[in-house]
Amino acid sequence: MKFYIATDHAAYRIKSSVIEMLQDLGCEVVDLGPQNSDRVDYPDYAHKLCKEVLRDVGSFGILICGTGIGMSLAANKHEGIRAALCHDAYTAQMAREHNDANVLCFGERVVGLGVIESIIDTFVKSDFEGGRHTQRVQKIEEID
Ligand code: RB5
Repeated sequence: MKFYIATDHAAYRIKSSVIEMLQDLGCEVVDLGPQNSDRVDYPDYAHKLCKEVLRDVGSFGILICGTGIGMSLAANKHEGIRAALCHDAYTAQMAREHNDANVLCFGERVVGLGVIESIIDTFVKSDFEGGRHTQRVQKIEEID
């Protein structure tokens, strides 16, 4: 699985740990920044990442800010992006199995590293179930 990852300043300090978690699971990771903890605007990084995920068919994204809310709001403005704000392994599992999420968002100020590890592990190991969920996801796409 290939992931693009980006944060804002609020989540910059945990980015390297998340990259390590993904690599330990055998994932390829592309770090889209930022490369220091200077203040940035989260939509800039959400838009940068979504463009890459849409261009690189089959890839996934991880966006982290203080709450995960701003990143998910910005990401979901992109047609074809299904960004899910997850707080635990259960929401991460449902995001993949039911919603076919291609971008995972969470908040550095909301979840600790242990929970983040379970979110990442579950998201990577879960697949879209299809079936009855396919038409529901299609109906989201029809809004675009
Ligand atoms: C930055 O202070 C904070 O607003 C941002 O990280 C995020 O939580 C926005 O949704």
